[in-house]
Amino acid sequence: MGRLHSIDAMRTAARRRLPKFAFDFIDGGALGETGLARNASAFGDVRLTPRVLTGCTVRDPGVDLFGHRFSLPFGVAPIGLAGLAGPRVDEGLARAALEAGAPYVLSTAGTTAIEAIAAVAPGSWFQLYVGRDQPITDDLLLRAEAAGVGALVVTVDVPAPGKRVRDLDNGFGLPLKPTPAMAWDLMTHPAWSLDLAMNGAPRFANLERYAERGAGAQSLAALMAAQSSARLDWRLLAEIREAWKGPLIVKGVMHPLDAARLAQLGVDGLVVSNHGGRQLDCTPAPIEALPAVRAAVGPELPVLVDGGIRSGEDIARALVLGADMVLLGRPFLFAAAARGALRGGRELFVLLADELDRAMTQLGCADIATLKALDVFKPEPTGQSAPSTRGTLRAVQERKIAP
Ligand code: FNR
Repeated sequence: MGRLHSIDAMRTAARRRLPKFAFDFIDGGALGETGLARNASAFGDVRLTPRVLTGCTVRDPGVDLFGHRFSLPFGVAPIGLAGLAGPRVDEGLARAALEAGAPYVLSTAGTTAIEAIAAVAPGSWFQLYVGRDQPITDDLLLRAEAAGVGALVVTVDVPAPGKRVRDLDNGFGLPLKPTPAMAWDLMTHPAWSLDLAMNGAPRFANLERYAERGAGAQSLAALMAAQSSARLDWRLLAEIREAWKGPLIVKGVMHPLDAARLAQLGVDGLVVSNHGGRQLDCTPAPIEALPAVRAAVGPELPVLVDGGIRSGEDIARALVLGADMVLLGRPFLFAAAARGALRGGRELFVLLADELDRAMTQLGCADIATLKALDVFKPEPTGQSAPSTRGTLRAVQERKIAP
């Protein structure tokens, strides 16, 4: 297979390699998937007008966040059951992110233990699901601290499991009950099935120690189901803030009033996210929600965004609209499935870094601060294109406008 030049090409390659139930689990969204589609399509409405002649021969896409200098303004979103994309996906993506100087977020529902990720990619972030059992939450926090994670990401948008029709149609759920269709699916995707046979089925490596001893997979499945809990509320989050001394980021915030209250509560950052359109179908796209969230929390609080980012230009759009960094979920799984996790992760970092660099150069921005200061193009109601040129020539002649 030659080079894959876009995330779309990686998705096509992943679709070929993965059994249908695995591809659909990764690719799918809630209910009719209009929210999933909107996450990506909303980027098409964000237009940026280039500034020319800025002579930015050298660009720096680095950002300072949470006391750390990242080489790139994008990273890997937390992904549960990532091992469905292939063997050692969590480790491979974590290593690729570390090499690229970008954050990697391990999910509570990841298929590699937090301790193992810390060994291969120290400083990786950890995403916490606050499930029904407080002792499990307490223990996960202790383990995250002992592992020296760079940030704790508390996901707040899963008070109930999302309804994903593709998974239901495929009979894909926990505990896994193999169906004849699934057996056929496995037989017709032999490379993936061989990997599975050689490496074992993906495991909930962070949680399996809490499963009732001897009760087996059934009990682990029940434990996983218990991770979608509506128990998490403002009081409990305040307790987590109190207990967690490192950077605390809250993921899954869409409403500006929630964002303002979280800022008041003393969190260190937010991720504007609708869980990649996997929970509700009816929400706005995160990129649509971002400007109001940024306005609500002011310019200082780090705000990240994820959902539907599919190119370096999308990353630029998100930064201009007020994000300090973005995360991508599915694209990294597609890359991992298409190429193997480490190689695929590396390729995707290179692809996106290259696209972002081209975008920065053509938009006339040598660094992220300059990029973030760009205006978003707003078509005028008359149909006349903005920015307006009226009076501009005279202003330039009178040197009232900076070159
Ligand atoms: C996710 N996401 C997610 N989020 C989270 O906080 N914990 C998790 O365990 C998971 N698991 C998960 C599994 C799979 C297969 C996907 C695709 C997504 C959501 C993820 O972190 C992120 O918000 C979205 O993936 C962003 O949207 P894109 O980039 O996939 O469009």
